[in-house]
Parts: sequence; C-alpha cells; structure tokens
Amino acid sequence: MDRCAVTRVLSVTSECAPLVKTGGLADVAGALPGALIGQGVRMRTLLPGYPDFLWKLRDPRVRAELPECFGGPARLLEARHAGLDLLILDAPHLFDREGGLYLGLDGRDWPDNPERFAALCWVASKIANGLLSDWQPDIVHGHDWQGALAPYFIARSPAAKQVRTVLTIHNIAFQGLAPAARLSALRLAPADFTSEGFEYYGKISMLKAGLIFADRITTVSPTYADELLTPEFGMGLEGVLQQRRSDLIGILNGIDLDVWSPEKDAHIIPYHNPVGKRPNKAVLRAEFRLPETVGPLCIVVSRLTAQKGLDLLLKALPVLLDHGGQLALLGTGDPELEAAFAKAAEHPNVSVRIGYDEWLAHRMIAGADAILVPSRFEPCGLTQLYGLRYGTLPLVALTGGLADTVIPATPATLAGNVVATGLQFHPIQAPALSNALARLCALYRQRELWHRMGRNAMAHPVGWDHSAAAYAALYKSLSGITQ
Ligand code: ADP
Ligand code: GLC
Repeated sequence: MDRCAVTRVLSVTSECAPLVKTGGLADVAGALPGALIGQGVRMRTLLPGYPDFLWKLRDPRVRAELPECFGGPARLLEARHAGLDLLILDAPHLFDREGGLYLGLDGRDWPDNPERFAALCWVASKIANGLLSDWQPDIVHGHDWQGALAPYFIARSPAAKQVRTVLTIHNIAFQGLAPAARLSALRLAPADFTSEGFEYYGKISMLKAGLIFADRITTVSPTYADELLTPEFGMGLEGVLQQRRSDLIGILNGIDLDVWSPEKDAHIIPYHNPVGKRPNKAVLRAEFRLPETVGPLCIVVSRLTAQKGLDLLLKALPVLLDHGGQLALLGTGDPELEAAFAKAAEHPNVSVRIGYDEWLAHRMIAGADAILVPSRFEPCGLTQLYGLRYGTLPLVALTGGLADTVIPATPATLAGNVVATGLQFHPIQAPALSNALARLCALYRQRELWHRMGRNAMAHPVGWDHSAAAYAALYKSLSGITQ
C-alpha cells in the first residue's frame, strides 16, 4: 500500500490543553494536532467528557449513541474548540462527578479508573472499526496508560487489518493496574491474561497491554527511551520494553510558541531579549513579596511529587539563600511537600504559592532569572523549555528530556563562542544540587556571560517543527502513506 494522501490520526488522551490539564500530557496533546497540519497529518482528539469543559463547547453534535458503555449509556460528541477537532465520550456515569480527573475529593484514585479509561479506548477501537460513517483513522495514537488499551482492542478487532497503532509513554510511573477479577468488566480476553500479554504479577496492566500490542511505541525524549530499558527507570516494564526495543523511539516534546512567547504573551510585559525581563522581575517580586537582593530570583512551577526531586531542593536551599538568591514556588500535590515549602517560606527570600495557576506560571517564567527542575526522572519536562524560550536559565538534573534540551554551562560550553543555555547537575542528590546552585549564583554575578547565556537560551529551538515531522514520518511509515 503506497498512497499519496493526508494521514488521518485519532489521538486518544485523558487530557488536552486548553480544555483540561493536570500536567504536560495536556500541553502535548493540545499542541500536536496544530503542529501536524503542515506535515500532511489531520489529527482528531478523543477525550473523556469531563463536566468542567463540556459546557465550553459550542454546538457539539451527537455522532453516535452507545446504549451500553461500561455500565451506562453514552454518546459520542463532535466539536471544534481552539483549533482542535474533538471527539468526546460523553458518559456521565464515568466522567460527570465532582473531583479531579483521576482522583476523588478524598485524594484517592477513582475506584473505577480502569473502567473509565478502558471505555475511552473501547470507543477508539469502535471508531477504528467504522463507528463514524464518514471518517476512519489510518492510525490510532494512544497516550499513557489511559490510552493504552486502544492498541489492544484494535489488535483484537477486524480493524487490525488496516489501522495501525502507536502508544506514547509520557510517564511510566503510572501503569493502570487492575485486579484480575475485573477482566470481563474491562472487556479483556482471558486468553491474553498471560505474561506474554497484559498480565503483570497477577494483575491486569493496561499500560503493558499497549506496550505489547501497539505497532510502535514512542516516548518523549531520546534519553528517556534509553533510560526506560534499565531497571532504575523502567519501573518493572524494562523487560517488555527491551523485547520491543526496535519499535521504541524517543521524540522530544516541543512547546506551543503561540502560547509561550515572550514577544506576544498577553500575561506579561513583552520583551525580545534578556534585558527586557527586568520589569517582569519587578512585577514578580511584588507579587511574591520578595525584597531586592544581589542574587538570582529562582522559580519552581511544578507538581509537588517525589518525581520532581523538590525534597532535594529543600535540602540545598540554604546554599541559594546564602548566596543572596531567592525562591518563588508555585505548585500543588503531596501534602508533606506542600507543608515543607510553606515552612521554608518563613525565610524572607522564599515565597510559596500552593495551588495551580496557569497565568501566574507565565508571569513567573517571564520574571525569574532561573527555573529549577531537579527531577529524579523526567521523561521530557516542559517547564525548562518555557524557561529557555523566556531567557530564564534552566538549572536541571541530568536525566531524560532535561538532558536532551539544556546545554549545560561547563568549561567547554563557556569557552570561546559560548553555547551554554543553562546548568545541569549529577548525581541527582542534594550535594550536587547545592554545588549547582552555587555555580548558578557565581554565573549570575558575571553579568555579560549571564546575558549571553540568556540570549542563547531564547534562540534555542523549542517549538514543534522538528518533532512534528518525526511523528508525521512515523505515521506515514506505518500506514504506507507518502506525501
Ligand atoms: P509533568 O507533566 O510531569 O507535570 P511537565 O514539565 O511536562 O511535567 O509539564 C507540567 C505542565 O504543568 C507545565 O505546563 C507547567 O507549567 C504546568 N504546571 C505544573 N504545575 C503547575 C501549577 N501549580 N500551576 C500552573 N501550571 C503548572
Ligand atoms: C509527563 C512527564 C513529563 C513530560 C509530560 C509530557 O507528565 O512527567 O516529563 O514532559 O508527560 O510528555
């Protein structure tokens, strides 16, 4: 099969910016369709019908009625929003509830999370099998464990003959485990509940189902693709990934340059070079009630979880403060980390906002001198990319996408024609982070060098062009469609 046509892709995701977001997956799912248009790919996005955004859609059309969808009736809606071509699984018994996307108000996973996202994937497979009379995808692309059963259901359906599948791992820490007793509730074939199938230590692993049955597996940076093959990062699935090594590729995330642009951002005082950050810094200091100091104003914008290594920052913080530096943090998550940062904020040069605030994140990234990302593992990471774009130098751990996107200040990259764009530290432990913070403060005092690095950072390509082309090439190679 070798056809010249537009490739039709159905993206299956549990979140998608600007409609619904808890982390970077939403940014990626929201930006990729637009980035692919110039690549001869038309992507539609299948999303659960969470109540928070359904009301925002103008004139959604009912495209299919699903009388029995994992415990209740559902409808498939079609709508356009913010340039996205959406298909929405409107299943009130699964998604219309008060609480988070994945967690109830008590902070625990919804007990029926496996059914909720199995339903999404089952509908993706129905679409691959012709549910919509006027549109069928060439490729179905699932994201994380929530989209991972789509390749499985398709592989076990007639569409397996013509529809190819891709699964992207954004974070292998979340695997979608369910007790074996839920096999039939999840519409999974008992014959596939084996160690060659989706069985994982006596449980169903929805992520493993996707890793076994997808035609190709991608992850969000080349370094994380390598790391996933090791026990340290593979989190129990390294063996499965080693078997599928030749089908696994790392494609770096980009960022949406229309949303993240220091020249056009409506939430900041626009600027074109690092010097233009100054008024934004004054606004940020006022907003966080931080005094003038001699050192760099550093920020963190992050989920507060063990992954992000912020406990290491708590230990290393005295070094930053001793050098006259400051910290402004925006984040939410683990109550212990929230409490520890609230306590750290008793220091006059530390200020903390517990919560989630998209526009405050923009103002922080525009106003700060440096952004800290000390993650223990980081499949890609987006905030360091925002930092680069805004000339806010990233100080990052040497892992995953952080290793692939920041050119660290070293004697080699600072010599002659300076190419450094940030700082890196390794091993990912508090002493190395402390040293890196001390180096950051020393560099900050060398104003000319600091601005040079800022200009390098702002010039570093962080958009989607290159990676969208890589996804397009992958889809086209799978579907036999050439441009
Ligand atoms: P992850 O997906 O692991 O959380 P990423 O760096 O890929 O990490 O993406 C995180 C995204 O969520 C970024 O867009 C970041 O700006 C945003 N974000 C995280 N925490 C907050 C917060 N408290 N307020 C606003 N935005 C946040
Ligand atoms: C995950 C990862 C993060 C990545 C994001 C988008 O949440 O933790 O590193 O940038 O997905 O791919």
